[in-house]
Formats: sequence, C-alpha cells, structure tokens
Amino acid sequence: MNPFRFGAIVEGEHFTNRRQEIKELVSDIESGQNVVLISQRRYGKSSMVNKALAGMDIKSIRLDLEIISDEIDLANAYVKKALALSPFEKLKTYLKSLKIQPAMEYNPATGEMNVSFSPTAADKSSVIAESLELPEVIAKKQNRRIVVVFDEFQEIRRISPNLEKKMRGVFQAHQNVSYIFIGSQESMIRDIFQEKKNPFYKFGRQKVLGGIPEKEMEDFVLKRFASAGINAVGIVKDILAFTGCHPYYTQQLCHELYITHEKGLFRRELIKEAIGNIVIQHNADYKRWWNGLDNTERKIVIGLAAGGSAVTSQQFIQKYGIKTVSTSGSAIGRLIDKGIIVRRDKNAHEIEDPFWKEWIISNRN
Ligand SMILES: Nc1ncnc2c1ncn2[C@@H]1O[C@H](COP(=O)(O)OP(=O)(O)OP(=O)(O)O)[C@@H](O)[C@H]1O
Ligand SMILES: [Mg+2]
Repeated sequence: MNPFRFGAIVEGEHFTNRRQEIKELVSDIESGQNVVLISQRRYGKSSMVNKALAGMDIKSIRLDLEIISDEIDLANAYVKKALALSPFEKLKTYLKSLKIQPAMEYNPATGEMNVSFSPTAADKSSVIAESLELPEVIAKKQNRRIVVVFDEFQEIRRISPNLEKKMRGVFQAHQNVSYIFIGSQESMIRDIFQEKKNPFYKFGRQKVLGGIPEKEMEDFVLKRFASAGINAVGIVKDILAFTGCHPYYTQQLCHELYITHEKGLFRRELIKEAIGNIVIQHNADYKRWWNGLDNTERKIVIGLAAGGSAVTSQQFIQKYGIKTVSTSGSAIGRLIDKGIIVRRDKNAHEIEDPFWKEWIISNRN
C-alpha cells in the first residue's frame, strides 16, 4: 500500500508533528476559548483540529461551509450534525418546541434520522437561529462542553449576507460551546475577525498555522518510506527542496515517487520523473488556472516562475512589462486571494503550487 496520503484529513501514521499547536488548541478548548485558525491552503488545519479533538474526551461537530448552499441548507445540515450529539429520543422534546417543525424521517439504510426544514420565506430567520441554538441546548442538558468546528468559515459571506450578524447574535450567549473557525482565505478571515465594524470582531483567539519544520518533515518522509521497505535517505533533501516542506505537496510528490519507484530503482532522477508525471496528470487543471488569469496576473506569475520574488519592485515591474506599481499591486492582491501566489515575507512572493510552477516553466520552454 502507498505509504503517503494527500487530499483529505490525515490521521495516525499519516500525520506528523503539530504537537505544540495541538497542545495550545486543547488548552483553549478546555478553557472555553473560541479559536480562529488561519493558514494558507492545505497546510493541515483540518487534520490538526481533528487530531486535537480525537485526543480529548469531548463531543464535537464539524461543518464544512464550502458545501452549504444557503441558510436553510445550513439549518438542515446543522441539525443533522447536532443529532449525533444526543440520543434521538431526548432530542425529540427539544425539536418539538421549535417554532417551525422539521420533517423527520428514519433512513433504514443508514439507521439515521433525517431532519429537514422547508420553511416559508417568513419563517427562515427563526429556523436558522433556532438550529444554531441546538448544540448549546444539548451541552447544557448534558452538563458538558461541546465543540463546534466551522471549516472554510469565509464561505459564510457567500451563503447569505446577514448570516454573520445572525450567527454572532446567537453564539455570543453560549456558555457551554467552544467554537473553532477554520479559514483558508486569509484576507477574508482577517476581515471577519479583525475589523471592528464586523459582527465577529475579536470573537476568538487567532492562531496562524505555519509550516512543519524541515527536520520533522524529513523524519516523517523517511519513516513512511521505511514502512514500505524503502531507504530514502539519499533523496529526502531533494524532495523537500522542491516542495518547500509543504505538507500536502510533500505527500503528493512522495506518493507519486512510491508509484514510480515500483517500476524501477529508487534513484535521484526519479524525482524529476515523478514531478513530470504529476504535471501531466494535472494538465487540464493547470491550463484552466492559467487561462483564468488576466494579462498582468500572467506577467507576475511568469516572473515568479522564472525565479523572481520581489514582485512589487521597480525592477520586476519593468522586466516583465507590467504597466504601473498600482496595476501590479492589485493583481498581486487578486492572486493571493485566489490562492495562486503566497507571500513568503514582506518583499517576497512565490507561486503556491510547485507543480503548477513546473508546468508553466516546461510549457514556456
Ligand atoms: N501534520 C501533517 N503531517 C503530514 N501530512 C500532513 C499534515 N497536515 C497536512 N498534511 C497533508 O496535507 C493534506 C491537507 O491537509 P488538510 O486537509 O488537513 O489541510 P487544510 O489546511 O485543512 O487544507 P484546506 O485548505 O484544503 O482546507 C493532507 O491530506 C496531508 O497530505
Ligand atoms: Mg481544511
């Protein structure tokens, strides 16, 4: 079996490090502190929260806002998740006291109850507000803290323009639920929690999740390869130099290396071959990302692929034919929001996906 996993939440032997971050998160949860967790895409936020909760004797629900369409969809999903917190018999009394009665249906295939609201427009607001109360009601009844995790929380603004205000209005009275908000669109998450004018201003302690230290990543890669009987000592540094120790891209490259390796010896040249395979596999996506960029954005990306990093400098702007500093500035902002480039430090940016960078380089050669 391939010893590397990428894409979904990882746990057990597929998860490494994050000891300090988990310790902090656990202590926040225990003290009833709400937490806002930010990082660039695929740094391991969801896996880290999952791991922290798995090690605690505490009930939790996790809702990914990315897959929610509107407020009623959210209410349905929320109530369904909350049902897992308490035996249905006990919850029934509470559900009966709701102003708007949900339809309840037993699903014999899964053995679960399905609860769904289909309110008239006028009832919409109370449906969402009452659903959001459910975890607090259950926590109070059971006399124990419950954790609610919202993943991709920046999506709240797409779901409905007033949802932020409604949610905050409900959550602020909750004494028995700890909320964890995970976000990957940094500027929007910062706007939600750092701007005075917004309802969630200072609602939780903010934590920025950084990368995994090189030594840890190196040990992890060696251990995983070793579990499959492979000695990767000779190539691990080259792997990490390409992925920049990024947890997702490191697992992606190693996963491909393992597949490629089955066909031959484990040589250094294999890294190139594995990168090439990944670039080919994702050609359609990479092309689509490229075609989604306007001309200034393309110039910035070309400059970064060619090894530049100071995208705001006069020299860069001139070299890549960008009109003005301000055109470049707004294009950089858009590229960051789309997750295409990331800021390494104040004056240096880079392309987020090293494989896409490789695709650009090889297509322009
Ligand atoms: N601690 C870790 N150890 C090893 N690999 C990890 C770790 N954290 C994340 N990964 C790798 O990164 C991938 C993405 O992790 P995860 O989904 O938890 O990140 P995320 O930050 O929630 O991503 P997204 O921005 O897409 O929501 C995992 O599938 C795994 O390959
Ligand atoms: Mg996630």
